[in-house]
Amino acid sequence: MSSPAIQSSVIKDLKLAPEGHLKIDWVEAHMPVLSRVRQQFEQQQPFKGLKVAISLHLEAKTAYLAKVIQAGGAEVTVTGSNPLSTQDDVCAALVEDGITVFAKYDPEPEEYKELLLRTLETKPDLLIDDGGDLVTILHAERPELLKGIRGGAEETTTGILRLKSLEKEGALKFPMVAVNDAFCKYLFDNRYGTGQSVWDGINRTTNLVVAGKTVVVVGYGWCGKGVAMRAKGLGANVIVTEIDAIKAVEAYMDGFRVMPMEEAAKHGDFFVTVTGNRDVISGEHYDVMKDGAILSNAGHFDVEVNKPDLEARSQSFRTVRRNIEEYLLKDGRKIYLLAEGRLVNLAAGDGHPAEIMDMTFALQALSLKYVNDQYSNIGNQVVNVPYELDEQVARYKLESLGIEIDELSEEQKSYLNSWSPH
Ligand SMILES: NC(=O)c1ccc[n+]([C@@H]2O[C@H](COP(=O)([O-])OP(=O)(O)OC[C@H]3O[C@@H](n4cnc5c(N)ncnc54)[C@H](O)[C@@H]3O)[C@@H](O)[C@H]2O)c1
Repeated sequence: MSSPAIQSSVIKDLKLAPEGHLKIDWVEAHMPVLSRVRQQFEQQQPFKGLKVAISLHLEAKTAYLAKVIQAGGAEVTVTGSNPLSTQDDVCAALVEDGITVFAKYDPEPEEYKELLLRTLETKPDLLIDDGGDLVTILHAERPELLKGIRGGAEETTTGILRLKSLEKEGALKFPMVAVNDAFCKYLFDNRYGTGQSVWDGINRTTNLVVAGKTVVVVGYGWCGKGVAMRAKGLGANVIVTEIDAIKAVEAYMDGFRVMPMEEAAKHGDFFVTVTGNRDVISGEHYDVMKDGAILSNAGHFDVEVNKPDLEARSQSFRTVRRNIEEYLLKDGRKIYLLAEGRLVNLAAGDGHPAEIMDMTFALQALSLKYVNDQYSNIGNQVVNVPYELDEQVARYKLESLGIEIDELSEEQKSYLNSWSPH
């Protein structure tokens, strides 16, 4: 007999489940911090009787998070957070495990939205969002479903910016925890996770050498720092572009050349945008690029590389390899765009390493419990992850690594807390 999850889910093919289970088993073995939270949830059942809707890049690590929330007693529904980052075999495995899934790889834009709406129509009590699609559609198009939502947790920088503008207008209707802004998120996930997985995505997609080439990193935030650091490690000459003077000085002190995009456009062999902003490569930048330049984006939305401007300068366009589009410009130069300008590490790779997402998703799970416990006290605002939870995740991580650290003595505590001269 087929389960309710099998009956209601919309996925590509349930028969892909065995491959998906193998992927989830592999990451579970490398996510000890989240497994600690799972044990806690199995005992405490913090989400008993509640419905949780999750919109995340649907691959194995996210799937394990969904299973941990389910282990905490919740009825879980998941959907994608980007049309190209959903893995169909993982979706099938989740459905077999009793989780309702509304997601498939590369749906048409209309269908992608429809799948988000189906997820919201399950009338969740709690949400996990990545990039703010669930929360913004809910507020803008389905206000009747807002009632009953206790709160949620947001994964990424771009989603938090959207939530903060909703909050500023006084329009946010429930509390959201800004998981991205926790130390154990951005210091590791944005920097080391994006740093490694972006190059994994670019390398496996292009199969070209990086050493000796010029890499232009657009944006020197937490993600950009990681991408630039790893490009340097691969032997590239790295150029950083920024609009923030402090970040620009930081990039300079870290040993990178800093210049405006107009200039950098002439030098780059590889470009990686990580700004969370739109049109950071556009118009006249294409006019001065080298023949064969390779463009990619790791920011949340596919708006960083301006595609209409590129198309307007092209006489033809074709797919030359999986996830590589070749634009033949009117003057005969060729420019390549990876993964249609969507997050290259997820759309053309497997996303961040499991050990990194271990910490991020432990924070997600604990933040969801926190918002469920405290939603009536928090009110309709965006709040940070409490420091105790951030620290708890770091301690679990150290324990999993077998690393011990020192503790303050009583004398040291009193020294640090005292204002009197010593
Ligand atoms: N690919 C992934 O797996 C992944 C992981 C985490 C975050 N993200 C996304 O990556 C993006 C960046 O995240 P972050 O945490 O690094 O953000 P951040 O705010 O730390 O950094 C963004 C940087 O871009 C700079 N910037 C803005 N406009 C610019 C422009 N026109 N030219 C040059 N620089 C510009 C800003 O000054 C800032 O320093 C967001 O969209 C975020 O959601 C992606």
